[in-house]
Amino acid sequence: MEREIITTADGSKTIQIKEWNEQYHSKHGAIQEAYHVFIKNGLDLFEHQDLAILEIGFGTGLNAFITLLEGSKKCLSIHYVAVEAYPVSVAEISQLNYVEELDALEKQRDFEKLHSSPWHEASSITKDFTLQKEQKDFNDIQSSSQFDLIYFDAFGARVQPELWTVQIFEKMFRALKNNGVRVTYAAKGSVRRAMQEVGFEVERLPGPPERGKC
Ligand SMILES: C[S@@+](CC[C@H](N)C(=O)[O-])C[C@H]1O[C@@H](n2cnc3c(N)ncnc32)[C@H](O)[C@@H]1O
Repeated sequence: MEREIITTADGSKTIQIKEWNEQYHSKHGAIQEAYHVFIKNGLDLFEHQDLAILEIGFGTGLNAFITLLEGSKKCLSIHYVAVEAYPVSVAEISQLNYVEELDALEKQRDFEKLHSSPWHEASSITKDFTLQKEQKDFNDIQSSSQFDLIYFDAFGARVQPELWTVQIFEKMFRALKNNGVRVTYAAKGSVRRAMQEVGFEVERLPGPPERGKC
């Protein structure tokens, strides 16, 4: 499917799938959404420990990059596994402006390493951040009691309803350690019920603010 780079309301870029009218991040702000959903309501729950994170949908690497930045501020040691079936291209990566927008020019090399690191093996991106990218379908996730935190960042149920099902949520539940946390951006009733059915305790949190609103 045709992909196009677009600019979201906070100035950060994302990828749009035109045929689906679906973006990799919110049009209201890619960086803003990533921070709100995955850092504020996910990573920030963890303090000073070794952390294993599973990202379902690596895409542009934005979530991985902000996790690397924030993890380093909090002195976390992170092992990050990211699953992705359709990697973004080098040409697409070169058009993303996350390093500039996050004012993280000294971490440019780390952002590049997130993308250039090999698939299917663990790579040290920094001394405290290891990345293992897995090029495979979400249906093939077979981990068990391995992760403290899961970022579930698939496309929405409107376009990929098959990924918001009991079958996929069971895989995530199995992949989490006891008391693990899974965060996502969707709050639809049917999705919530499917999560509860596999055993998740579900908490609905306020969404990110839209630009221009207080
Ligand atoms: C919403 S985007 C992820 C955005 C990403 N977290 C980021 O920060 O850029 C969803 C991602 O899931 C991937 N994807 C969609 N269906 C998939 C499947 N069945 N298995 C694996 N990856 C899939 C897409 O290629 C896309 O990169």
